Amino acid sequence: MRALVLSGGAGTRLRPITHTSAKQLVPVANKPVLFYGLEAIAAAGIVQVGIVVGDTANEIKEAVGDGAEFGLEVTYIPQDAPLGLAHAVLIASDFLGDEDFVMYLGDNFIVGGITPLVDEFRASRPDAQILLTHVPNPTAFGVAELDADGRVVALEEKPKQPKSDLALVGVYMFTPAIHQAVREIEPSWRGELEITHAIQWLIDNDRDVRSTVISGYWKDTGNVDDMLEVNRSVLETLEPNIQGSVDERSEIIGRVVVEKGAEIVGSRIVGPVIVGANTRVTDSYVGPFTSVQEDCRIVDSEIEFSIVLHHSSIEGVRRIEASLIGHHVEVTPAPRVPKAHRLVLGDHSRIQISS
Ligand code: DAU
Repeated sequence: MRALVLSGGAGTRLRPITHTSAKQLVPVANKPVLFYGLEAIAAAGIVQVGIVVGDTANEIKEAVGDGAEFGLEVTYIPQDAPLGLAHAVLIASDFLGDEDFVMYLGDNFIVGGITPLVDEFRASRPDAQILLTHVPNPTAFGVAELDADGRVVALEEKPKQPKSDLALVGVYMFTPAIHQAVREIEPSWRGELEITHAIQWLIDNDRDVRSTVISGYWKDTGNVDDMLEVNRSVLETLEPNIQGSVDERSEIIGRVVVEKGAEIVGSRIVGPVIVGANTRVTDSYVGPFTSVQEDCRIVDSEIEFSIVLHHSSIEGVRRIEASLIGHHVEVTPAPRVPKAHRLVLGDHSRIQISS
């Protein structure tokens, strides 16, 4: 069995902040979301992985390399333009050959990995096995309609009037039957060859399409609250590990990772927290569910339930909460604006003025 990981797509998506131009490299607990997918694929016993890359090919290649770090053998498959998920299957047909494969969208995060799902697929080999999850905003996804027995009867891409709240999760398992399907379909209204249409083609041609409903799913949509939440849930599973230095005036409480070269000086760190390599935290408080990437400076500040990307500095600010701070950002207190109070106070007055 092989894996096809989709990490193409245009590099310029509207996001609240641009972490990086490849959305598959958005960090969750200081690790690119794509790496969790690659780890899940390796854990499921798959070695040969094709990664579809587009405009951001260089960034992806620099991060993943030849895949050896993950126990994988990676082949890069360039896609000239993001012409759709089924188009990615079409251009990967030489790499996939006549093997079964799992298709994994590089910006998706599945809590708990995919091993049981891959095992189940290997055992029963339906033509397609899709994953579904209940979502509050089905119009942003491919949506499945099931019959009374739970069989998939129809799939619709980004429907205006969704027939259910069951969204297609970005992990699909296929036998080679999908190759004919992707050749048969036409581009959609958005000009893409949709994998939903290819799966619908399998259903319409009486092929065996099965679904499993999962929980514990996240997709990078650029929504800050969702990102903080997935970061929080991954930090919950953190194994404490102090590789950097912690001075005797500092206090480390709970599950805390201090990466190599990081320094904690005169500070209180209450986990789960991850402090990236070469980051220096001085005279500060870093509270639960915070990820600080490498090469940051936190001085005389307080921060919790937040994500700070690399090369940023926070100095003299309290308190920062539920925040997402990009890379190379400087946060400092606003200069105090001199305020004048003009007072006419009677004898023996007692007043309080906030200043
Ligand atoms: O994430 C789940 C959703 O993914 C499903 O519910 C939808 O049915 C499915 O169509 C897809 O929806 P999106 O429109 O949100 O996919 P997106 O354009 O974000 O692409 C998903 C990943 O695949 C992303 O990592 C970029 C990559 N990609 C995308 C396209 C269109 C490629 O590598 N090549 C492509 O041509």
